[in-house]
Amino acid sequence: MDYKNTYNSFLQLVEEKLNTLVAEKEPKILYEPFHYLITGGGKRIRPVLTMIACGAINNKPEEAINCGVAIEVMHNFTLAHDDIMDRSPIRRGRDTVHVKWDDATAILTGDVMVGWGYKLLPTSTESKQSDKIYASYTRAIIDVCEGQAFDVEFNENTETNIDDYFKMIELKTSRLLECSVEMGAYVAGATDEEVKSLNLYAKYLGYAFQLQDDLLDLTADEAEFGKSIGQDIQEGKKTYMILYARENLLKDEHKDLMNKFYKNNGLPKEFVPQMKDLLLRTGAIKASQKLIDDYFKKAEDSLSPIKDSEYKNMLIWLLDSLNNRKK
Ligand code: IPE
Ligand code: IPE
Ligand code: MG
Ligand code: MG
Ligand code: MG
Repeated sequence: MDYKNTYNSFLQLVEEKLNTLVAEKEPKILYEPFHYLITGGGKRIRPVLTMIACGAINNKPEEAINCGVAIEVMHNFTLAHDDIMDRSPIRRGRDTVHVKWDDATAILTGDVMVGWGYKLLPTSTESKQSDKIYASYTRAIIDVCEGQAFDVEFNENTETNIDDYFKMIELKTSRLLECSVEMGAYVAGATDEEVKSLNLYAKYLGYAFQLQDDLLDLTADEAEFGKSIGQDIQEGKKTYMILYARENLLKDEHKDLMNKFYKNNGLPKEFVPQMKDLLLRTGAIKASQKLIDDYFKKAEDSLSPIKDSEYKNMLIWLLDSLNNRKK
């Protein structure tokens, strides 16, 4: 199997559904930003994961397409609100919804996406596993909000540590990925053991993915990444790199900069290169890359209870292609 081709064919199916989901609907002030956000690109890794997980169990990945689209819609709801919370100006290379419209519009757009997400899930006549799919979806919404709340709370707390960071990213990032594979597995009628194994795969993938997102926030090419670089430093985010560096500060000048970051809950844009230099010199960037590699490996190991198949191999291929991502 050519995994890249298969990814692209799933991507195309997802794009077709997203393109027509709310096109031309009224009220325009609600559905124009909705349509703008969900058709603005993105890797679509969550819906693709739903389909591959389904394929790994029953060899019929297309059966999970609606659950895949539902998780992508939920993901986009979290992005609309996250961009307000993080004051982010750019997403997927374009103005964020709250910049192109305003905060109120972005809030309502995110809200209505939750409803549209649920509408896409299979009813009990469509799937015997409907209850489990709904429960997984609901858990993901609740947990991502809890994770986002910890993100804000940890920002204001000088005592935040690395355990706190992992607790936060498990909620805000892993849970959506867990829901993605769980729904695919349920559609395919997976056993409890298979669901558990896929869940663990997605949890570790989520850790690696968020660590990587935090790293790319500092090191990526802005045009390629599609988001503004150095945003996390400006917003005072307690990323793994910041927490690691704080414990490993060598020079007094570094201590001054870190204290300033902590005292002011972030640094102005002109200090981003200095902070990047600090993170390099303290080994924080290297330590972060090492953890990313470790978690991708753990994700792969989690799949051992799943029977061998091309789709299982594709789940492993996906880890490697994400580890090399630039956006
Ligand atoms: C962004 O997710 C939010 C994080 C969890 C870091 P993605 O990196 O999957 O964003 P898109 O959908 O590809 O734009
Ligand atoms: C993950 O964190 C966002 C959500 C769970 C919605 P970030 O705030 O780092 O995501 P980006 O970088 O804005 O995409
Ligand atoms: Mg955020
Ligand atoms: Mg953000
Ligand atoms: Mg980020």
